Amino acid sequence: MTETTTSVFELQGLHVDFETPDGEVNAVKGVSLNIQPGECIGVVGESGSGKSQSFLAAMGLLAANGRASGSIKFRGEEILGLPRKQLNQIRGARMTMIFQDPLTSLTPHKRVGEQLLEVLALHKDMRGEIAIKHCVNWLDRVRLPDAARRMRQYPHELSGGMRQRVMIAMAMLCDPELLIADEPTTALDVTVQAQVLDLMNELKDETGAAIALITHDMGVVARMCDRIYVMAQGEYVEANSADNIFYNPEHDYTKMLLSSMPRLDKPGQILGVDAQIKARSERVLEVRDVKVHFPVRVGGGVFPKIKPLRAVDGVSFDLADGETLGVVGESGCGKSTLARAILRLVPVKAGQISWIGSNLLDLDKKAMRERRKDLQIVFKTR
Ligand SMILES: Nc1ncnc2c1ncn2[C@@H]1O[C@H](COP(=O)(O)OP(=O)(O)OP(=O)(O)O)[C@@H](O)[C@H]1O
Ligand SMILES: [Mg+2]
Repeated sequence: MTETTTSVFELQGLHVDFETPDGEVNAVKGVSLNIQPGECIGVVGESGSGKSQSFLAAMGLLAANGRASGSIKFRGEEILGLPRKQLNQIRGARMTMIFQDPLTSLTPHKRVGEQLLEVLALHKDMRGEIAIKHCVNWLDRVRLPDAARRMRQYPHELSGGMRQRVMIAMAMLCDPELLIADEPTTALDVTVQAQVLDLMNELKDETGAAIALITHDMGVVARMCDRIYVMAQGEYVEANSADNIFYNPEHDYTKMLLSSMPRLDKPGQILGVDAQIKARSERVLEVRDVKVHFPVRVGGGVFPKIKPLRAVDGVSFDLADGETLGVVGESGCGKSTLARAILRLVPVKAGQISWIGSNLLDLDKKAMRERRKDLQIVFKTR
């Protein structure tokens, strides 16, 4: 970073206020930030601290009751209060944003291709075969399998991870100088999340785009960012290099954010839980070599073969009184089926499940129903 370079993006004393029936809400209270060419900065902080609104103000996308004041510069030029026509020459092309929720930001009734082509026509005046080629090329680059076919699909026909990739392709389509990514991976499972972050890193290196990454996930900023701004209640309480934020945090709020991060090197300190208390507790659930196989048809014709799909194939674990066990893994790996198997909501092919010493698999229907009073499941909604 030299003094002669112009920041790609700069906020100076930015305020965002909302008029509400209960009075004025001061969502952003005079924040200043700069992003240099090719740099990735992170904005972290708790929900409602003002992270999104400060960047939505830059994109001219505040709600009707919102008002921004102060200064927002893009490549040294003031863009706050710019007439829509002039702002449109920058946003969506030179400065683009991946929104927090990919489902609401893609138009549901338009095919993916149509939405991408619209962006090219509007900002680059690019149409026809060459535009289609450009879009397919970007869908390929964001590793969307079968890119040409995806162009003809609607957003609801894609998985969450795929939609997120379409959003990234759309944001990259016009070679932006700044990509604002607002919680780009929150809705994704851990493996897809890692792929999406790697992809953004690659795109940054390939195109030289600067990135502003907004997230509440300290793990994500640790992986991606050169510098970090920590936001609390509408203000940046600390701004520093990623190394300093992680190794020498100054503000109490930053320290609190860091302490809530799981530490694999110090497992006992996860969320402040003392592992020694756990070690003394009684074992309440013992799961041994549990298997759940579903029959699936293979091949067509008059005599299709039935083969077992091994959804859970020999899983064992213990759970002690007062203990919390996390089961993580990629989409479709059998996590939910395992939970259902423990409650015998799916047929268990083999294994043992003991709840306070008695094997649940030996219980008849009535006894099992009785036992379910002690064992509850919260189903996922996504
Ligand atoms: N249209 C609105 N009217 C009133 N208040 C609003 C409006 N939009 C946002 N706010 C308020 O502005 C504050 C900052 O919101 P913002 O969306 O920037 O939070 P955030 O830090 O991005 O949170 P999250 O991590 O949950 O996305 C919140 O208190 C929110 O309630
Ligand atoms: Mg937000």
